[in-house]
Amino acid sequence: MTNQKMTLGEFIFDNQSAFPYSTGELSKLINAIRLAAKITNHEVNKAGLVDILGDAGNTNVQGENQQKLDVYANVKFIQTLIQRGIVCGIASEEEEDFIAVNSHDGKNSNQYVILIDPLDGSSNIDVNASVGTIFSIYRRTSPIGKPVELKDFLQPGNKQVAAGYVMYGTSTILVYSTGRGVNGFTLNPALGTFYLSHPNLQFPENGRIYSVNEGNYVHFAQGVKDYIKYCQREEENRPYSSRYIGSLVSDFHRNLIKGGIYMYPRIGPRQNGKLRLTYECNPIAFLTEQANGVATTGYERILDVKPTALHQREALFCGSKNMVEDLIHFVRRDT
Ligand code: AHG
Ligand code: MN
Ligand code: MN
Ligand code: MN
Repeated sequence: MTNQKMTLGEFIFDNQSAFPYSTGELSKLINAIRLAAKITNHEVNKAGLVDILGDAGNTNVQGENQQKLDVYANVKFIQTLIQRGIVCGIASEEEEDFIAVNSHDGKNSNQYVILIDPLDGSSNIDVNASVGTIFSIYRRTSPIGKPVELKDFLQPGNKQVAAGYVMYGTSTILVYSTGRGVNGFTLNPALGTFYLSHPNLQFPENGRIYSVNEGNYVHFAQGVKDYIKYCQREEENRPYSSRYIGSLVSDFHRNLIKGGIYMYPRIGPRQNGKLRLTYECNPIAFLTEQANGVATTGYERILDVKPTALHQREALFCGSKNMVEDLIHFVRRDT
């Protein structure tokens, strides 16, 4: 990577300067995420060398066995955000309740809440496959000066101010949007600096990759089954290729670059799918739309679903516009 590329720090500064009346709070928040991402990246990279692989021995609020890196990333993100005193509240996939954070002046003067999936795809850790972090940022709706309330975290995704992810892959990339397109920054590990490597990311309108856990096939609704068979048929430009890592961040990132559809449908035993609306579906849907793609439950725009609980699950279909529209057609035809 050459140093002609803009650094993430420069990019944040330039963007803030474009809004002379902004308080700079969002910029500081993105900076804190950048730091927590570097700390987590450092630990993920040496996972095979230090005793950080495997199960932590606890079950989280999702009913999942927490991995040691789930716990580590959760602690690092929360600590970094609290120490910098720039959010008024944090909700995490790994925490049962949200955490209220007071500002450094003790007056509850911060305006943003953040929701995080500290370590996404944690079943991939022990096999050296890529994992990620997902974040979603809202402006609080409760009055400044008071502690945050649950309703600040239960806003529909269309109220997001910013969202993004970090992917700890062959290289580490931070991809985020503040509602004006999507940009990706790759970490130069020698310098510890993120550089703008993927400006203005856009989903190709058509793609040739479908990503779904087909082990659940028998539990899918008929419309979803029909769409998968359509993907596999030898006609027109099909069959499509099947690619599934089992880490939403990595599956999404590949499809964003190459064109494709990601699916986590409702399945029999889990009526609302598996993915968490607040930590996974909403930020990914925000990025999808900002990158010219479509994100839906099959029936409704993800960003318009009103969350009723912090850890609520929802079906997710997202990706290249024409592929997701074909899927919607199959799903609705069946109902
Ligand atoms: P997390 O590791 O944060 O709990 O998320 C796991 C999610 C998501 O990353 C992935 O796409 C999906 O679970 C995989 O689920 P299956 O193993 O059921 O396919
Ligand atoms: Mn989990
Ligand atoms: Mn996840
Ligand atoms: Mn997770």
